[in-house]
Amino acid sequence: KHSLKAHAHAHGLMYGSAVRVKDLLTLPAFARLIREQCGIVVPASELKWVALRPSRDRFDFTLADDLLAFAKRNHIKMRGHTLCWHNSVPDWITTAQNRPDTRQLFVDHITTVCRHYAGHLQSWDVVNEAILPKDGQPGGLRKSFWFDQMGPDYIDLAFRTARAADPHALLTYNDYGVEFDDEEDAERRKLVLELLRGMKQRNVPLDAVGIQSHVKAGQPYTFGKGLADYLESIRQMGLQIYLTELDVNEDDLPYDNVERRDKEIAKIYRDYLQVALANPAVKELLTWNISDRFTWLNDGPTHHKKQPNRPQRSLPFDSDFKPKDAFFAI
Ligand code: G3I
Repeated sequence: KHSLKAHAHAHGLMYGSAVRVKDLLTLPAFARLIREQCGIVVPASELKWVALRPSRDRFDFTLADDLLAFAKRNHIKMRGHTLCWHNSVPDWITTAQNRPDTRQLFVDHITTVCRHYAGHLQSWDVVNEAILPKDGQPGGLRKSFWFDQMGPDYIDLAFRTARAADPHALLTYNDYGVEFDDEEDAERRKLVLELLRGMKQRNVPLDAVGIQSHVKAGQPYTFGKGLADYLESIRQMGLQIYLTELDVNEDDLPYDNVERRDKEIAKIYRDYLQVALANPAVKELLTWNISDRFTWLNDGPTHHKKQPNRPQRSLPFDSDFKPKDAFFAI
């Protein structure tokens, strides 16, 4: 019986996947795969502001509630993603003539959503992707809508509000671009650590760090000391680590042969997890979906897909839900 769930469990870890709730509800074979393989799930977009808040006075929890019901029925845990992300701010906020008081709106949103799921979620990605060095702000903070409206304090505020509304969920700071041994990722690692240290000093309720793990095949740089030292610094702060969105962008691989690509992709999974899972603070591994059929890397046209006629094979199962080399590598 090959299941990533059982294999992870035997090693004191959890394995899971992001899902689009509609796929789960409409495709029994996909639901079966998730049940077989996953100890934890996370909705890919259904808990973001844009999905939950069609208008100022309406919360639509339908799809996320459906996922929670599915998870409970099948003894699967669920994560929340995400309470605060620059990329999911509804138009009715940003284009409002008389803009609502942002701080009040922010606190009310987090309070309502966290209370709705209080006691039912394993963890919450409270703030997602707050660092962007090229924006030139102190601390490398991203010039997001939330930052523009509230200044750097919005991060602490989000965590304090979430804790007050749901004391059970483990509160997570989630970000990308910290995995490789290159200068750009090294700079991002430094800035995330500074942010975390500041939060700890200010007694902000923070339990875990999410490392998105959108990694790439066909790059000159590797995984090694940069990543290992980063994980160790987080561990020494007393925080848990979750690999929250693992997948392999293979768009740069120069050959079309599928077997060859699958081997190369599997090697990236192996190389990455060899370093990442060596740290005992790493408690969860989620891939960003489980089947190539649904990888966001095929949504496009985007900069993630330079080869429009070559669907990416980024995940452990192929589009017919058959396990690939990456599955065995994990
Ligand atoms: O469900 C609606 C549908 O009703 C509507 O007709 C259609 C029209 O655009 O949109 C559908 O919603 C889409 C949703 O995915 C569900 O499929 C949104 O447009 C689309 O923007 C959304 O994309 C998600 C994206 O985040 C933005 O929220 C991707 O599925 C999701 O994989 C991606 O996830 C992000 C993480 O949150 C953060 N890290 C990077 C990662 C990949 O971009």
